[in-house]
Amino acid sequence: MKPVYERFIENPDFTKPDFVELIKCAEDPEAVRRLKEEAVRIREIYYGKKVFTRGLIEYTNYCKNDCYYCGIRKSNTNAKRYRLTEDEIMACCENGYELGFRTFVLQGGEDAYYTDDRMVAIIKKIKEAYPECALTLSIGEKSYESYKRFREAGADRYLLRHETANEEHYRKLHPEKMSLAVRKNCLYDLKKLGYQVGAGMMVGSPYQTTEDLAEDLVFLKELQPEMVGIGPFIPHHDTQFAKRTGRKCGDDTVFARCDPNPAAEGTSSGNDSTWDDGSAWKRERAAGRSQCRDAEPFSGENRKQYELYDNKICTGEEAAECRGCMGRRVASVGYELVTERGDAV
Ligand code: 5AD
Repeated sequence: MKPVYERFIENPDFTKPDFVELIKCAEDPEAVRRLKEEAVRIREIYYGKKVFTRGLIEYTNYCKNDCYYCGIRKSNTNAKRYRLTEDEIMACCENGYELGFRTFVLQGGEDAYYTDDRMVAIIKKIKEAYPECALTLSIGEKSYESYKRFREAGADRYLLRHETANEEHYRKLHPEKMSLAVRKNCLYDLKKLGYQVGAGMMVGSPYQTTEDLAEDLVFLKELQPEMVGIGPFIPHHDTQFAKRTGRKCGDDTVFARCDPNPAAEGTSSGNDSTWDDGSAWKRERAAGRSQCRDAEPFSGENRKQYELYDNKICTGEEAAECRGCMGRRVASVGYELVTERGDAV
């Protein structure tokens, strides 16, 4: 019988036990080589040599939730809270546009200050000023009605990682108040409303088993999101998981191949300096991702405060410098940093 990764390459219609077997291949160098090769091949069919960037605007770190792993959880009294004003958000967009970003991502904690009315106003303002840009929201769980209003105001995409598809595992990472069923339902609502939807999970989060990861992949297959964000769990010093360590990063490769067609709107953890060989870029390329890292068109003190996990890269750098060096790195490996929206195809 052929090795599991060859079977997967031939027909990725896998069930949970197949995925368990596949994930275990992360230790096998030949499996990893084949899966990387295949990931690159498939990515190039859809996106050629293009690399898209996303202008991430982390506009508030106030959050009503208390996810045990997250640095901006409500009960972290050490977090220095901030929120950008509407004018500051618009200034981010202006700067970002100049730099060549054609997607803006409004990402924040679940902050009651930003009511639906306020969000709708900001969405409209951004879309009016930059009609050819895509606008992505990453602002957590809302009602169908709220999502509908944001969509009608002009939002194109929505990022909401499911975090884990397994009920028992979900309970170990989140307080009683939160619910996996609600989370999944939000994702289906977003799909119904015609957003390009991004789901995903952390790899190596506390108590996560290989079976849990396999369930995540089954869930992603069922949901069929346009984007998938998968990043390593990185302990944050002010959480109960401060002393935990993540999982080996070889797994990244397996996940990159599992979803052949995501316009992965990668968040910064996927290229964090805490990866063990310290060379995030090399791995990104090897893992066959279709996009490069986000860069925030906002250079200020606040960037440091939006700390979901420790050792975030590029926290103080100017977005302009960031994009410049990104462009050079991308070109050095035969790819092209483009000034485009980069929609899912
Ligand atoms: N390590 C890695 N990723 C984290 N996130 C939150 N906390 C951490 C952490 N400690 C991720 C979650 C969330 C996204 C915005 O950031 O997956 O959905």
